[in-house]
Amino acid sequence: MAGADWIDDITVQTTKQLTTTGGTVWNAARRCASYLEHEATIIGLDRPGVRVLELGAGCGLLGLLVARNTPAAAEVCLTEQAFGGALQHLWLNVQANSHLPHMASVTTCACDWTHFMDPQLVAAARSGAGCSPAGCVQPQQQQPDYQQQQQQQLVGIGQPHEQAACQGSSSSSSSSSPPSAAEVADMRHLLCSHWDIIIGSDLVYNSAGVMGFPRVLAALMQPPNSTTEQQQPQQQQQQQQQQQQTVMYYAHTKHRFDAMDVDLFEQLQRLGLCVAEVVEAGQELPPASPPPFSSLYPEMRCAVFRISRPAAAGDEDAA
Ligand SMILES: C[S@@+](CC[C@H](N)C(=O)[O-])C[C@H]1O[C@@H](n2cnc3c(N)ncnc32)[C@H](O)[C@@H]1O
Repeated sequence: MAGADWIDDITVQTTKQLTTTGGTVWNAARRCASYLEHEATIIGLDRPGVRVLELGAGCGLLGLLVARNTPAAAEVCLTEQAFGGALQHLWLNVQANSHLPHMASVTTCACDWTHFMDPQLVAAARSGAGCSPAGCVQPQQQQPDYQQQQQQQLVGIGQPHEQAACQGSSSSSSSSSPPSAAEVADMRHLLCSHWDIIIGSDLVYNSAGVMGFPRVLAALMQPPNSTTEQQQPQQQQQQQQQQQQTVMYYAHTKHRFDAMDVDLFEQLQRLGLCVAEVVEAGQELPPASPPPFSSLYPEMRCAVFRISRPAAAGDEDAA
């Protein structure tokens, strides 16, 4: 990695056995790690107690590199969909690196973006309805049986997914069944925790990514005063004062799927999220890419995007 201050002794196994694309380490994972390495202080990644969440972690390289090089982190939570064996494979890679320093902060959690497309399910998970005491898994803990967890389907929570929104998605690359109790418990952990920094790399290659991933972000970046948690206004204000705003750094290979890129950025905008390409301090932003669909062989460049929720009136007082 350029800039090479970070220790890079993480080893992850790749596999062709999964029915998702998570069995490979994608170039964008290294691009995102390189950006985070350079910008760690500026973006607050090395702040004591920082809480980091990775979406679609795949083999786990990016999140594990972050944990390995962020000794002050309170939690680095690596998430994947249980579907297709992806979460199980991620967990095995986390386990295989758990002997390295600073890995105590690492947890794994189920996070299937299709579940976030059901607003009722998100509200139920946020409020704790139907949650089992399960939840995130520490690497030292016994191997979780995600297959079995998937079979423990919840009754009454999780409506059938919005097929209209999912139209065109490949049923072989994403879950289409209601979440298990353990998955809802993990959703609750994700929704009821404050995350300073969300990270991810090359997450969008199907409609579940285009429609689901932005909704996960919108739910995780929802301001604390609009949660259903019972909090006193004073408590809320104190909490806001202690927390930095949740920001995502997302590395994305541009022009691999032009149509999906267009839809992705439109969805993010529709959900009120700001997206801007960022580069390391001292570097210049590359020239704007040609418009989508305009080039026969467009440059497939890994760009890092900063995704955030714009400050609402009153946020400034609390910050
Ligand atoms: C192209 S891979 C990238 C993996 C990893 N971030 C990397 O860069 O190496 C996309 C990842 O998104 C995950 N993914 C796809 N659909 C998902 C969904 N509906 N919910 C959660 N994760 C999903 C896949 O399992 C896969 O790990």
